[in-house]
Amino acid sequence: MARITTSVLRDKKATKQKITMLTSYDYSLAAMVDSAGIDMILVGDSLGNVILGYENTLAVTMDDMIHHTRAVSRAAKNAMVVGDMPFLSYHVSIPEAVRNAGRFIQEGGAQAVKLEGGQERVDTIKAILDAQIPVVGHIGLTPQSVHQFGGFKVQGKDLETARKLIKDAKALEEAGVFSIVLEAVPTDLAKRITEELTVPTIGIGAGHYCDGQVLVINDMLGMFGGHIPKFVKKYADLQPIIMEALQAYRREVEEGSFPGPEHGYTIADDVLEKLY
Ligand code: KIV
Repeated sequence: MARITTSVLRDKKATKQKITMLTSYDYSLAAMVDSAGIDMILVGDSLGNVILGYENTLAVTMDDMIHHTRAVSRAAKNAMVVGDMPFLSYHVSIPEAVRNAGRFIQEGGAQAVKLEGGQERVDTIKAILDAQIPVVGHIGLTPQSVHQFGGFKVQGKDLETARKLIKDAKALEEAGVFSIVLEAVPTDLAKRITEELTVPTIGIGAGHYCDGQVLVINDMLGMFGGHIPKFVKKYADLQPIIMEALQAYRREVEEGSFPGPEHGYTIADDVLEKLY
């Protein structure tokens, strides 16, 4: 199977085939996501929450992101790897944004970057595209704006903010993004945006009309003990399974039943005799 490209994703929208995206942050899980045939792997700045244990994504740095993107890129043979630009990596100046987007490609081995924001990001996105780096937009509940929003709240519920989201989506499409993540947006508003765009929408908490879906992998596998948003479906509940394994390991080591003879290595009798 060949690498998923922006044109494969465009064709999927045109032919009404749904697009799949999941986050990953490490080699082992990314290799499974890739083998499962998921189209896109997002190395999300959600790593701040689920991997690094922060309260939100704001403390995540470029170096954190590059470190994890490199691990995921080594695993992804077919999926498109998208590096998520962290807070302050594209806000200070356009040259800095281009340099940071370039690091995801050059050092991280990603094929595209994602950044949060609507009309206010158009010039930055155009400059990144001028550097030949494909961009995914992200509007709705953009977690890097948590303080501005006053919490993690559904966006676009009133006329004014719904109209703004439609304008934002169109501005991003005109700027040249190849896809737009819609996060925590009412289902019917996401439908309207999806119908108005030629680029695919990828929903997370944005209902079933989007052209594709994305979830945070630790949430959907039931591996994260923190707050899980309403829009997450748990496809597995791994936390109790992992806890059972950890407790069994502890018990067996403490009682001396692990390791057993089958887990050890042998030494020839004559070598052993000469040791004593
Ligand atoms: O960081 C992330 O995981 C994301 C997804 C929630 C879209 O941005």
